[in-house]
Formats: sequence, C-alpha cells, structure tokens
Amino acid sequence: MKVLVTGGAGYIGSHTCVRLIENGHEIAVLDNLSNSNEKALQRVKSITGADFKFYKADLLDKEALNSVFSNERYDAVIHFAGLKAVGESVEIPLKYYANNVSGTINLCEAMKNNNVKKLVFSSSATVYGNPKSLPITEDFPVGATNPYGQTKLMIEYILKDLYLSDNSWDIALLRYFNPIGAHPSGLIGEDPRGIPNNLLPYISQVAVGRLPYLNVYGNDYDTPDGSGVRDYIHVIDLADGHIKAIDKLNANPGLVTYNLGTGNGFSVFEMIRAYEKASKRKIEYKIMPRRQGDIAACYANTDKAKNELGFQTLYGIDDMCESSWKWQEMNPNGYK
Ligand code: NAD
Ligand code: UD1
Repeated sequence: MKVLVTGGAGYIGSHTCVRLIENGHEIAVLDNLSNSNEKALQRVKSITGADFKFYKADLLDKEALNSVFSNERYDAVIHFAGLKAVGESVEIPLKYYANNVSGTINLCEAMKNNNVKKLVFSSSATVYGNPKSLPITEDFPVGATNPYGQTKLMIEYILKDLYLSDNSWDIALLRYFNPIGAHPSGLIGEDPRGIPNNLLPYISQVAVGRLPYLNVYGNDYDTPDGSGVRDYIHVIDLADGHIKAIDKLNANPGLVTYNLGTGNGFSVFEMIRAYEKASKRKIEYKIMPRRQGDIAACYANTDKAKNELGFQTLYGIDDMCESSWKWQEMNPNGYK
C-alpha cells in the first residue's frame, strides 16, 4: 500500500516509517518540522535503504495539503501530526485546538476530496482520564483533564461522526499507552525540545549528564512502592501496531478502537532501576510532590488488539531502556 504519514519526522512517526518500509509499503511523509528534524527522515532512509518523498507542509495550510494529495495517490493515511505537551496545552489551549483539531479536519477534507478513506489516528490512553479500575478496556468511560487530552477526545468524536455520515471510511483509533525506547540501530529516537516532560527522556538525560537528577513526582500513591505506575511500550512494538491496523483497514472494518500497550505496569522506581542497569550509570533522584493531573496507575487490557489485530508486543523493559540508552549515548544532543 501507499501510505501518507503525517508527523512522520517525529518520534513515533519515524519508527513507524521504518517498519512500514520493512513491511513492503511505500510511504510519503508530511511534516511541518515544528517538533522534529529532517535528519530523522534521512536516517529512516539510511536504515531502510529506501527513498521516499517528504512534503514540508502544515496541516493548517489547506492549499499545501491539497497539492500533497493531488501529487500522488495514497491508499491510506497514518496521522501522527499534532502537538503533545500537556503543560503547554494548558498555557496555550487555542494553539492546541487549532493545530490538532482543525489540522485533522483539514486532513480529512483533503482525504475526502481525493477519495482516500482509510485513516489510522494517534489517540492516547489520556482519553481514559482517571480510570475507575485496571486494566483498562476500550469500552471504559472517556474524559480528558487537559486541553491536549480534549483534542484527542474531540478528534475521536469527529472521526466517529465522519464514519457515521459515510460508512465507506475505514478508521482505526489507536490509544497508545506510554511509548519509550528507540530503534536498535541508535540512529532514530526521541528528541524532545527543552526539558523533557515525560519520564524516560528525563531519566536518559540524567544518565547522560545533561540534567543533574530526576524529580520523582510522588512516592505516596496507592501502588506497590508508592510511585506512579504506567504501561510502557517499546516504540518498535507500537510502530508494528500501525502495520497491523493498516492490514485491518484493508478488511474494511469500519471504525475500530484499540489500546496499544503491553498490559504490564511498571513504577517510576522500577524504571530508574531498569535504566541504571541498561546504562550502567547511577540515576540520582529527589522525591517531589505529586504532579498535578497525574494518576496513580494506568495499564491496558490488550485482549482486543491481540484477538482482532493479532497484535503482540515483543520487547520488555530491558530492551526499551537499552535501546533508549543507545540512542541517547550515540546522540547526546539529539539530532542537533
Ligand atoms: P512528535 O512531536 O515527535 O511528532 C509529531 C510530529 O507532528 C512532529 O514531527 C511535528 O513536527 C509534526 N506536526 C505537528 N503539528 C503539525 C502540523 N500542523 N502540520 C504538520 N506537521 C505537524 O510526537 P510523537 O511522540 O511522535 O507523537 C505522535 C502522535 O502520537 C501525536 O499525535 C501524539 O499526540 C500521539 N501520542 C503520543 C504519545 C507519546 O507519549 N509520545 C502518547 C500518546 C499519543
Ligand atoms: C503524560 C501525560 C499524558 C500523555 C503522556 C504521553 C501528564 C499529566 N500526562 O502521561 O497526557 O498522553 O504523557 O505523552 O502530563 N514522572 C516523574 N518524573 C518526571 C516525569 C514523570 O516522576 O520527571 C512520573 C509521573 O508522575 C508518572 C510516570 O513518571 O507516574 C510517567 O510520566 P510520563 O512519562 O509523563 O507519562 P504520563 O504521566 O503517563
């Protein structure tokens, strides 16, 4: 299939581009590089030995979007492009709503105008808010607690309405848990701008000496060791979930929703120990108050993705930390 990957220069997008090519798909990438570097795409090319088109374009630019679609015929779109910093979304909500929601509407209009009706969308476990129990199944109630989460939820609703209005669309809503890790080559990985918000990029910058210590946000949660528990999934496994979703869309399923996680929860302290083992460095940390908006624990029930997509994760926490460390060590300043 020929797949247009929006946000393909980003963290998850670049890894998915590699796996798409390795699975025999043809790709093109659309990205405005607002949170990424074109070098990631050069490295995707060197990992795979494949060439592909890159359109430096913004989803808010309808004209540019239409020319991307009139230039080539795509069978499907995987839509990663979006802004994702929770704190920033609270400070500048309009930017988040415009970029994520309007950007997706523009994308769907361009797809419709060009009769491309297979779409995989990057949603998030954040749509479950504070879950009433664990593990989380896809039919749990949804509700967001910040503008970033609201954009994910709104887009899910918009895509459901789009499908209801025209059932010739096939749409997969993929709710990611916590993607971490990097390609085993160490050539591509997560390259956050500024101080990282998420745990793993923060730990890896402490390990490499860019940051002095980790702030552990709370050791008094109702969890086995008091720190927050999350379902960390290797970015390569996550990328493979998209390949499975593309296969699923070919069977014309209509609109489908899947959790992409491992089903296992790990605490902050367990992640510190795993990263120390992988990097052979000491991770200094300080216990801080809980971070606003955080929940105690979150992990997926993965049965639906397993049964309907044949999705099974291959990598464990040690692989995730080792590949993250390899990327961090080979690229101490990211792509810069
Ligand atoms: P990322 O920031 O690395 O990648 C997103 C890409 O989209 C970037 O390359 C950015 O330049 C591009 N982009 C943003 N707005 C754009 C626009 N208007 N036009 C064109 N390109 C634009 O983020 P990521 O971690 O790879 O996440 C990919 C997707 O998955 C996002 O939608 C994110 O919300 C979602 N997601 C991420 C996580 C996570 O923990 N990383 C978890 C759940 C969901
Ligand atoms: C965060 C976002 C969520 C988003 C997800 C992926 C918040 C409240 N939630 O989820 O909306 O979908 O990232 O981008 O921001 N931790 C520390 N110290 C740190 C960083 C994190 O102790 O410096 C802890 C957190 O309290 C949490 C765990 O590590 O228990 C994981 O945090 P993080 O990586 O930010 O992911 P989420 O909180 O799951």
